[in-house]
Amino acid sequence: MVDFTLTEEQLMIQKLARDYAQKEVAPKIKENDQKAFFDKTILTKMAELGILGLSIPTKYGGSGGDYISLGLACEELEYVDTSLRVILSVHVGLNSLTLLTWGTEAQKQKYLVPQGKGEKSATFALTEPNAGSDVVAIETKAKKDGDHWILNGEKMWISLADVADHFLIFAWTDQEKRKKRDHSGISCFIVERAFLGVTTATIHGKLGIRAGNTGSIAMSDVKVPKENLLGQEGEGFKIAMFALDQGRYTVASGATGLVHACLDASVKYANERKTFGDVIGKHQLVKEMISDMATSYEIARMLWLKAGWLKNTGQRCTKETSLAKMFACDASERASGNAVQTYGAYGYSDEYPVERFYRNCKGAVIYEGSREIHKLMQADYVLGYREDKPTRCSLPIPE
Ligand code: CAA
Repeated sequence: MVDFTLTEEQLMIQKLARDYAQKEVAPKIKENDQKAFFDKTILTKMAELGILGLSIPTKYGGSGGDYISLGLACEELEYVDTSLRVILSVHVGLNSLTLLTWGTEAQKQKYLVPQGKGEKSATFALTEPNAGSDVVAIETKAKKDGDHWILNGEKMWISLADVADHFLIFAWTDQEKRKKRDHSGISCFIVERAFLGVTTATIHGKLGIRAGNTGSIAMSDVKVPKENLLGQEGEGFKIAMFALDQGRYTVASGATGLVHACLDASVKYANERKTFGDVIGKHQLVKEMISDMATSYEIARMLWLKAGWLKNTGQRCTKETSLAKMFACDASERASGNAVQTYGAYGYSDEYPVERFYRNCKGAVIYEGSREIHKLMQADYVLGYREDKPTRCSLPIPE
């Protein structure tokens, strides 16, 4: 049976995220964006509401909820501003769900519980100045030293870098394998901001998501206890790919919310603004743009919901998640461009939010697997060059 009905719990979480974003953040987002101000009270409030613990079991401090609820929350948050959804992408999608799946019980108690409660915030740091799509080009190194690992390197373009308390850091632990670009020489570490030798900075001058924090993390002889190795030594690449399956899911559902915001804003304006004696919604070329937004919204929604259903039922869905992410991000780029076009000259000013939507959409077409990486992946799946093999750890089925 195919059932498109949302459960009571899903509807409740959707409403919670919508009410919070629209009532509490929407009134101040234009100013925060103009000032490139990351408002830390947003994290506090999201923690209070349980949004930072979505999809994390209550026994690990989370607020529970299935993966579809997480996607619904992302849609609602990005409807108001991408920076809100980014918080969920890194804190829940890339970090907490990865700890939940790959962490030891002790790691979950120490790190996941405070993250689930929202007492600590977390992010994921894979990208470096010289390594984005090409993950094995990372240069960060970890060397064993008694009961510790010593980490050296730099991470860049990391959301919440200058804010988060906990980081998942990916580093080469086998230098011979690095020379051969063999991914099984990469490992993953849980690193605290408080560890000596960790410094972070904010990147300024971004095109969009200006109300969000994006930055770099430098590590100079950082002593990381050996119990902070996540998964097994050499499993870092697979853990990164697993984390990205969850991060990309939140990006897909969030970008769907952005398409929805563009559609609603365009419909409203098209029914108000008049040219040639009639509202512009009556003109065929405006209808074409609105029709594309409406169609894209429905398709993007179906794609992420399918990935969410696969996650809820314990099925690996790297292929479906990649497709949902690629489609929704492309659609949000087109929709926001068309929203600005619908608004004409007014769309070109910050009097209306569509110019912010246009600037905000672009990041996600680049990060968490660029459009080009996802195109290659999708082609490789259908050509039979790529398949999703079973993994040692898999995303838990929600309570
Ligand atoms: N889960 C678990 N294991 C996985 C996996 C997944 N989703 N995907 C792949 N693996 C495993 C494979 O099974 C394979 O295992 P074996 O070696 O045992 O066979 C291994 O990992 C290697 O997989 P592939 O052969 O598929 O790897 P690849 O080299 O073909 O991958 C790539 C190439 C798809 C381009 C990949 O490198 C990629 O996705 N690159 C993009 C990286 C990206 O999205 N970066 C953005 C990070 S965002 C950030 O850091 C900033 C921030 O703010 C968060």
